[in-house]
Amino acid sequence: MVRLGVNIDHVATLRNARGGMEPEPLTAAAVAELGGADGITIHLREDRRHIKDDDVAQIRKISRLPLNLEMACSREIVQIACNTLPNSCTLVPERREELTTEGGLDVAGHFDSVKWAVSTLIDKGIKVSLFIDPEERQIEYAAKTGAQFIELHTGAYANATGDLQKEELNKLYIAAAFAQDAGLIVNAGHGLNYQNTTDVAQIHGIYELNIGHSIMSRAIFTGLQRAVEDMKQILARANR
Ligand code: PXP
Repeated sequence: MVRLGVNIDHVATLRNARGGMEPEPLTAAAVAELGGADGITIHLREDRRHIKDDDVAQIRKISRLPLNLEMACSREIVQIACNTLPNSCTLVPERREELTTEGGLDVAGHFDSVKWAVSTLIDKGIKVSLFIDPEERQIEYAAKTGAQFIELHTGAYANATGDLQKEELNKLYIAAAFAQDAGLIVNAGHGLNYQNTTDVAQIHGIYELNIGHSIMSRAIFTGLQRAVEDMKQILARANR
């Protein structure tokens, strides 16, 4: 069964809206675990707009689930990762003005800085994933950095409808196969929800899906544990 990484950044966004202590991302990590989450994903952005340094340290120390830290290739954040030692880091592009991570990392265009971040993290025993668009050129360069994983950006698939969505799904199939042939383990994420996840979960060899917004949105109405359980059922039923 495909693993589920639950992205809990939105819990920090809600907490920060009032500048207080609640809701606590650490509690969200514990409740997501009760719902069957296989991992916790958080994004420490350079502007710290949601997750803060203390959240990373606390979740790393107390949560029992593997921690995946999404991050830019910046020296400051790489240093924090080396000190905190999450189980894995996913390198993402980051622009301050964007609402969420908009495109995949241009590994081919920023090869030296990405390779530096990958080898610095791997030297510390951290697994590294690169969040990229489903394009052969990016996958080839991703493999050359020494990263063990890629995360295919599913945003274009999630935003498309009808035949265009089928085309985007096909790109994900081709990219996943190409990446596995290149020796990479393939994750995917962005924009996945209770309607569009099954098709992605059925792609051969997909290891883990990282899902945040749709789970947190459902959690407002059903509670977080139930929202995670519902997504786990979708993954359990996806035949591959
Ligand atoms: N994967 C990556 C690399 C991301 O940046 C995000 C958004 O933070 C996600 C997955 C989760 O996306 P969504 O919130 O749309 O499920």
